[in-house]
Amino acid sequence: MKKNILFFGDPGIDDTLAIIYALLHPNINLVGIVAGYGNVTREQTAKNTYYLLDLANRKDIPVIGGAIRSVVGESGIFYPEIHGEDGLGPIQPPESFAKDLNAFDDIYKIIDKYPDVTIVDVGRNSSLATAFTLDDKSMEKVKEIHIMGGAFLVPGNVTPVAEANFHGDPVSTNIVLARGNHVTIAPLNVTNYAIIKPKTIDFIATNMQPPFGALIKPIFDYYFQAYQKLIPGIEGTPLHDVFTLWALMNPKSVQKVTKQVNVVNDNASKGLSIADFRAKPVIQPNIKFQDIILKFNYKAFVEDFTTTLLNHY
Ligand code: RIB
Ligand code: CA
Repeated sequence: MKKNILFFGDPGIDDTLAIIYALLHPNINLVGIVAGYGNVTREQTAKNTYYLLDLANRKDIPVIGGAIRSVVGESGIFYPEIHGEDGLGPIQPPESFAKDLNAFDDIYKIIDKYPDVTIVDVGRNSSLATAFTLDDKSMEKVKEIHIMGGAFLVPGNVTPVAEANFHGDPVSTNIVLARGNHVTIAPLNVTNYAIIKPKTIDFIATNMQPPFGALIKPIFDYYFQAYQKLIPGIEGTPLHDVFTLWALMNPKSVQKVTKQVNVVNDNASKGLSIADFRAKPVIQPNIKFQDIILKFNYKAFVEDFTTTLLNHY
């Protein structure tokens, strides 16, 4: 049976590859995309999403307007050197894709329509936290949430201690962790190693069916050049957001620990993700637990990514 997935993201190159992975996956039914600010502005992530869905001839998938800034009113910090000025590396979707977005309330309509829906959030958590703030009764119906974010006892990527998604809006991340049912976190501990190499992309781009073949190579190459500057000698690019979906679809290929997670929101260590990894952790009363993915089968990831992208569309 197909998994119904409501996707929150900020496309963004790795978000884009995650959406393509979802569209091509035989067991995923993408029931909506909430486009929020993050890698670029909300205006641009929405445009990129419409562009992708048009390319895929999947105009039936609703695009919902997510947050334009954090819940405490901070504007996003963008990273054009990694994702490009418009979020798709060298590709600039035409202005015609700047379309009206579906209303935020449609999130609840989707949850009602698909009672088994799984939420995946691979961007700043501002939109998802807002969904809880506006209607926590509807959100209570969601049994499973998977988020990409955090870095546990390892370096961050946007500050020495923080990963970009958790750093962007720690207040929102804490809302999602406090309210969400069965939250699974894919942190940098694993996503940094979910590396796809240029030879794999070349193979996929050459053998892939239309419509994505012409898109994935230029966006990957842009992303790879950026990563080579960040981490000299790196052999490919980590696909953080693809990993999050892959882990959800391949639970036997990952190893998790269950912890109570909190994200710091002060100046010096904003976005730092904390869990008690001591031999005898202190359990906080009345606080939810989350699953944190800490290990995965790399070979299985690369094989599944390749096979999925080569699926007939
Ligand atoms: O830290 C990696 C995350 O930040 C990914 O979701 C990427 O798309 C960026 O938003
Ligand atoms: Ca993202």
